[in-house]
Amino acid sequence: MNDVGPHRPHTDTPATRPPILSARGVVKTYRSGTQEVHALRGIDLDVHAGELVTVMGPSGNGKTTLLNCLSGLDDIDAGTVTVDGDDLFAMSDVERTRHRATRMGFVFQAFNLIPVFSAAENIELPLLITGIAPRVARKRALDVLGRVGLARRADHRPGELSGGEQQRVTVARALVGEPALIWADEPTGALDSRTAGDIIGLLLEVHSAGQTLVIVTHDEGLGRTGQRLVVVRDGRVAHDGDPRTAPAATELVPAAATLAVTSAEVAS
Ligand SMILES: Nc1ncnc2c1ncn2[C@@H]1O[C@H](COP(=O)(O)OP(=O)(O)O)[C@@H](O)[C@H]1O
Ligand SMILES: [Mg+2]
Repeated sequence: MNDVGPHRPHTDTPATRPPILSARGVVKTYRSGTQEVHALRGIDLDVHAGELVTVMGPSGNGKTTLLNCLSGLDDIDAGTVTVDGDDLFAMSDVERTRHRATRMGFVFQAFNLIPVFSAAENIELPLLITGIAPRVARKRALDVLGRVGLARRADHRPGELSGGEQQRVTVARALVGEPALIWADEPTGALDSRTAGDIIGLLLEVHSAGQTLVIVTHDEGLGRTGQRLVVVRDGRVAHDGDPRTAPAATELVPAAATLAVTSAEVAS
């Protein structure tokens, strides 16, 4: 735990501060018809300020569910999740949505940009929703666009941008609220390998500037060079720590899902 890797810019030990994220015993079971999918079987995870945590594991083993549940995007069946000192599931839905909007940023594989809005409008939208004045929101949007190297694309709509540029806009959108934590779910999954490398580079820059990040990825390079690798297998944390002692690459990304599916008791 708490390995000090090549990308760590901070001098103090993260373990001396309370974690930004603390999850204990998180269980998530999807039920559809007569089937239950045990997507998370008891997740314990702490993430400290300034850490870059890479999450890997075979498809269908619970990585996206982990992100959705630990960020409060989805409900959980058991356990607790504390983010920036607040218990996510002790809040009302409205409070949790607001907490997420102000304390967390998200980068998804499908960029999830609003097509009729310009890059700047997409970025300022989360600020406007939380009540920040339009003039301030626009200035902050243009500032982060500059940070991701897209100052000259502020007025372009997503359809007028390349995939890599669109993903840069989503990184800017995640950054603009100065969140405690940014979640990224396969941020390079829809990009060619060269563009993917650019986006990984951008995320590493963002981390070097002090941002706490949890990145779900199949990018072996990021997984192996990051400071801390979490391997999710069959809804559990199978490895947490030094990437060098993690399972071999072939065990991280096989095509087939291995989750157990059991029949639920169906009440008559
Ligand atoms: N909304 C859902 N309803 C039912 N099953 C789901 C749902 N979302 C995910 N699952 C199942 O939960 C398991 C974990 O999925 P997911 O977290 O998306 O895996 P990963 O991101 O590692 O590929 C899979 O078996 C998947 O089919
Ligand atoms: Mg996924």
